[in-house]
Amino acid sequence: MELTNKVALITGGASGLGLATAETLIESGAKVMILDLNEDNAKAAAESFGENACYVVANVTEEESVQKAIEETLNKFDGLHIVVNCAGIGSASKTVGKNGAHPLDYFKTVVDINLNGTFNVLRLAAVEMGNNEPSKDGECGVIINTASVAAFDGQVGQAAYSASKGGVVGMTLPIARDLARMGIRINTIAPGIFDTPLMGMAPDSIRNPLIEMTQFPKRLGLPSEYASLVKHIVENAFLNGETIRLDGAIRMQPK
Ligand SMILES: NC(=O)c1ccc[n+]([C@@H]2O[C@H](COP(=O)([O-])OP(=O)(O)OC[C@H]3O[C@@H](n4cnc5c(N)ncnc54)[C@H](O)[C@@H]3O)[C@@H](O)[C@H]2O)c1
Repeated sequence: MELTNKVALITGGASGLGLATAETLIESGAKVMILDLNEDNAKAAAESFGENACYVVANVTEEESVQKAIEETLNKFDGLHIVVNCAGIGSASKTVGKNGAHPLDYFKTVVDINLNGTFNVLRLAAVEMGNNEPSKDGECGVIINTASVAAFDGQVGQAAYSASKGGVVGMTLPIARDLARMGIRINTIAPGIFDTPLMGMAPDSIRNPLIEMTQFPKRLGLPSEYASLVKHIVENAFLNGETIRLDGAIRMQPK
């Protein structure tokens, strides 16, 4: 899909990977609606990008909130062609820790935001994408989800996070099959360790071993590198139903 004048809804677009994606897509000629829970950051980001960006405060886990955000996108930019799901949270809790069993509510919250929230946004957006005039090769929409290498090699304490991201990987192919008849593609990016505010919260004792496990280049990934893969996925019409690791060949060790 050509990016010029297309409309992209980016969840978690106020920070980190989503923010870098907003910048890249706008530079490539798209219009961007930033959907985020953090109003201050979302407003600041949208203002910095100018007239081709706008923001909406919404919670990806809530049906009504997301439906309203999609309607605001359509009202503002008159279309919806691309969804990039970046909203998500990290988690750390062992299955059985010093204080007993992993709190069930915590497990449910992580799965609710990272997995259910991703599905909630894409299912509602796909309905609107189905109304688009197909391109000459029949394309009406592109969806990009964000998993993690923890979907495959989750570390100690990552049961909830890995379950949520494993779900994002697992649903990619069946959704591609569901939406094929509507001319909508879906792919998932599984990032390694990226330099974002989410990772910035981790102490050096967590970050440094992860950088050591990254083969080459031996550093954190740049949000612009994630954004550049998003751009490629949007533009490459034959890429569908796939999960792509973007990780400097990291294979995470147990801890
Ligand atoms: N940074 C990494 O190293 C890394 C690695 C692998 C995967 N990821 C995944 O990439 C995605 C983006 O991560 P990031 O590092 O940019 O994080 P980030 O914390 O910088 O940004 C996440 C954004 O999502 C928003 N958000 C959180 N919950 C939300 C909700 N319920 N509704 C709407 N918005 C919500 C936050 O307000 C924030 O602006 C996440 O899904 C994360 O799990 C990140």
